[in-house]
Amino acid sequence: MSIKIDDSRLTEIFKEKELNIFREKTVESLNLLLNRSGAGNEFLGWLDLPNQSIDELDDLVKVGNEIKESNDLLVCIGIGGSYLGAKAVISSLLPKNNIRFIGHHLSPLEMSYLLDELKENDFYVNVISKSGTTTEPGIAFRIIRDLVEKKYGKESKNRIIVTTDPEKGALKQLADQKGYRKFVIPNNVGGRFSVLTAVGLLPIISAGLNLESILNGAKRGLEKSSLDNEENIAIKYARNRSILYSSGKKIEILASMEPQIHFIAEWWKQLYGESEGKNGKGIFPASVDFTTDLHSLGQLIQDGERNLFETFLVIDNYSDDIQIPYDSENLDGLNYLSDKKISFVNKKAYQGTRNAHEDGNVPTSTFHIAELNEENLMELLVIFEIGIALSAYNIGVNPFNQPGVEAYKSNMFELLGKPKV
Ligand code: PA5
Repeated sequence: MSIKIDDSRLTEIFKEKELNIFREKTVESLNLLLNRSGAGNEFLGWLDLPNQSIDELDDLVKVGNEIKESNDLLVCIGIGGSYLGAKAVISSLLPKNNIRFIGHHLSPLEMSYLLDELKENDFYVNVISKSGTTTEPGIAFRIIRDLVEKKYGKESKNRIIVTTDPEKGALKQLADQKGYRKFVIPNNVGGRFSVLTAVGLLPIISAGLNLESILNGAKRGLEKSSLDNEENIAIKYARNRSILYSSGKKIEILASMEPQIHFIAEWWKQLYGESEGKNGKGIFPASVDFTTDLHSLGQLIQDGERNLFETFLVIDNYSDDIQIPYDSENLDGLNYLSDKKISFVNKKAYQGTRNAHEDGNVPTSTFHIAELNEENLMELLVIFEIGIALSAYNIGVNPFNQPGVEAYKSNMFELLGKPKV
């Protein structure tokens, strides 16, 4: 098994009849999604992406391989769905890599560290914005483009790759005028569902990850989410979220036992928050890295207001593991662990924490990842994508728009004195 869900504790909390009602509702939602007849069905292109072939991605593979083989850095400029998918996959699977991310905040400090690094190293730039008009990546691109032009002169055109809307936007115009290489984000795929378009795949290939395995894992996630699969994890997960929400649990904590997959949770928070949080509804998606956060937020989870539930992310098998050494002096009293590996202690920490939180009335379930690799990770991401579509449909929300994101922008533009068009 590559990905499985253990929700046995929830089946002890809720009656079978209640669980069945929510299951039926969730199956209806899956029907809506797969028949493409639910709200926002003009944005369901992401359901087709796992089945695209590598041949179809020919140009992307060529440019990605060019960057990988150059051993240069790749600076990815983008925010929200235009950076989190690539960041999550790459940082989880290849923590030491040639990809740098910028344009997802307005930090002068981060920008100046990056500029220093870029002065010393050769680099490509991939600016990614579906709308082509987002302020944060726009500013970052203006600054980095200036450096590219100064550093590479006439050659700078080959160093910049644009990923944007096929027809409109300031970035598309700029790319056309300057003659940059260009990839498109299909109209029917929203930012937070775009990891399997050029948005995610160009950085993923450039980092050296295996594209075939990425697509195979995504396909597996989609196949396992079919209507006729009795063991459909996405249905179980969405059903559980909906029944917990209706019983007053308004916050979901994604609790990872492996800090290396920290950005999976960051991607998940964007996907879940932006898809479900509308019309006065939605579960607040939060995340913690254990065991680190057991020494900070652990207290609140164990003992604070009982409005939360917890979903653990656990890696079952590690290819790299470290044994705890024997020490003849045993001054630290740790010899009882001396034949054990770190992952063994981590597993016990997970079991102990899950039991403690259950005892503290926090309903829990767990996603088990058999091993951390391209296939399993992508299978999980696709299950999460389908899971949120079903959860949102279950509460009558369109998962594929984000009207609330505009509010901060219009305030900021007014304060900055942006000319009205
Ligand atoms: O998921 C979304 O749609 C958003 O988070 C966008 O990805 C984000 O706002 C960035 O937008 P754009 O790609 O247009 O710059």
